[in-house]
Amino acid sequence: VHNVIFKDSAEPSILVAQEIAALIKEKASNNKSCVLGLATGSSPIKVYEELVRMHKEEGLSFANVITFNLDEYYPMDKNNIQSYFYFMHEHLFNHVDILPENINIPDGKVSPENLYQYCIDYEMKIKAVGGLDFQLLGIGRTGHIGFNEPGSHLNSRTRSITLDHITRVDAAPAFLGIDSVPRKAITMGIGTVLSAKRIILLAWGANKSEVLKETIEGDISSEVPATYLQNHNNTTFILDEGAASKLT
Ligand code: F6R
Repeated sequence: VHNVIFKDSAEPSILVAQEIAALIKEKASNNKSCVLGLATGSSPIKVYEELVRMHKEEGLSFANVITFNLDEYYPMDKNNIQSYFYFMHEHLFNHVDILPENINIPDGKVSPENLYQYCIDYEMKIKAVGGLDFQLLGIGRTGHIGFNEPGSHLNSRTRSITLDHITRVDAAPAFLGIDSVPRKAITMGIGTVLSAKRIILLAWGANKSEVLKETIEGDISSEVPATYLQNHNNTTFILDEGAASKLT
């Protein structure tokens, strides 16, 4: 694992988009699909912006790309503007040539009876296409990656989870109040994320500085699930000066 610190999010977001684009092209030149694990939230927005620009201005094609999003609120309707389904289409999928059948986002409307099997099938689908070539991550103030809140097990896989109170507080503005924030989510597990061949975690802003210190300098513990990344052999943490401000 190594850490790279930039003044702000603009330059590193372009560099991350360039790494993703290079991977997509390398796979395409070998007639292979490129399997990307994707995150929502504020952290990756500029990466998606740059990928869209590369598609529009430089002809970067997503025809060989298969995506798996980390998580979705539960319950959540696709058409709801707070859904991660909506976010991904708004910021990326509607603007590139990815095949709709290659887009995978946990379904926030799967029935409770089918939820357990649905999560197993999500994992199987990732395996069936050869696993995640690349996983993009943000990090929550609880130390969650995906929605793997404190207490998440190292070997956890895609499942439903109860959101931490702090996570719901942070989501409240988007939902115009905490009472409207769903209490649950479907998320890939820690084991799912760690199985990715390459991982990049993005963190911007001083309000992430405390959790970044724990994540990078603290002991590995389920209390800060992002600390599990310390054991992954191809992970880079990309921070701005605010997020890095508490590192020693
Ligand atoms: C989103 C996700 C979350 C976010 C995290 C940070 O798909 O998996 O772990 O990455 O909550 O959110 P932002 O980027 O909005 O600070």
